Amino acid sequence: MSGAPFRLAPFDAAHDRTGFRSDSEPLNRYLREQVTQDIRRRVAACFVALADGQCIAGYYTLASASLMLADLPASTGKKLPRYPSVPAVRMGRLAVDQGFKGRGLGGALLADALDRAARSEIAAFALMVDAKDDAAAAFYRHHGFIALPDSPLTLFLPLTTIQRS
Ligand SMILES: CC(C)(COP(=O)(O)OP(=O)(O)OC[C@H]1O[C@@H](n2cnc3c(N)ncnc32)[C@H](O)[C@@H]1OP(=O)(O)O)[C@@H](O)C(=O)NCCC(=O)NCCS
Repeated sequence: MSGAPFRLAPFDAAHDRTGFRSDSEPLNRYLREQVTQDIRRRVAACFVALADGQCIAGYYTLASASLMLADLPASTGKKLPRYPSVPAVRMGRLAVDQGFKGRGLGGALLADALDRAARSEIAAFALMVDAKDDAAAAFYRHHGFIALPDSPLTLFLPLTTIQRS
C-alpha cells in the first residue's frame, strides 16, 4: 500500500469504529457489535486499515473454510487430488468506509488478505468469498476471482497465483 495514508493491522478493541459507515449497514453493525465476540471465540480474525492513527477506514475478516471439489469448475478440479474437498480461507466480510471509497483501499485490503492466506503455514488451496450481491461479485471478478459454476456469488482465487511478499 505504498503512498496510501493507511496502516494495516490486526483489529484491536482500542481502534475507533464508532463512526465507520460503509454502504452496507449489516457490515457496519458487524464491526460495531459482533466482531470482538467472533475473535474471542476464534470463529473469525479481523484486519483493519487505519487512517489518522486509530480510526478504522476499512476491514475484512478471515476464517478457515473448505471447497467441495465437485463445486469447482472442471478445469480447476482436474488439477487437484481427488479428495472430496480442498482447504480454503474464507474472507467473510470486506468493507470500506464511504469517505475512503474509490481510493484503492478495497483492493489493498483484498491484496493484504491474499498475502496473509498465501503466507500462512497452514495450507489452503484458495481464498474464497461469499459476495453479498452482484456488485460485490463484480468487484471480486475484477480482481481475478472465479465464480463457482452453480453458485455465482461464491468466488475463489487459487493461492498458487499469488506472489508472496
Ligand atoms: C466493494 C468495496 C469494498 C470496494 O472498495 P473501494 O475502496 O471503493 O475499491 P477500490 O477503490 O480499491 O477499487 C479497486 C478496483 O476495483 C474496482 N471496483 C470497485 N468496485 C467495483 C465493482 N462493484 N465492480 C467492479 N469493479 C469494482 C475499481 O474500479 C478499482 O479498479 P482499478 O484498480 O482497476 O482502478 C466498497 O465499495 C464497499 O465497502 N462496499 C460495501 C460492502 C461490500 O459490498 N463489500 C463486498 C464484500 S461482500
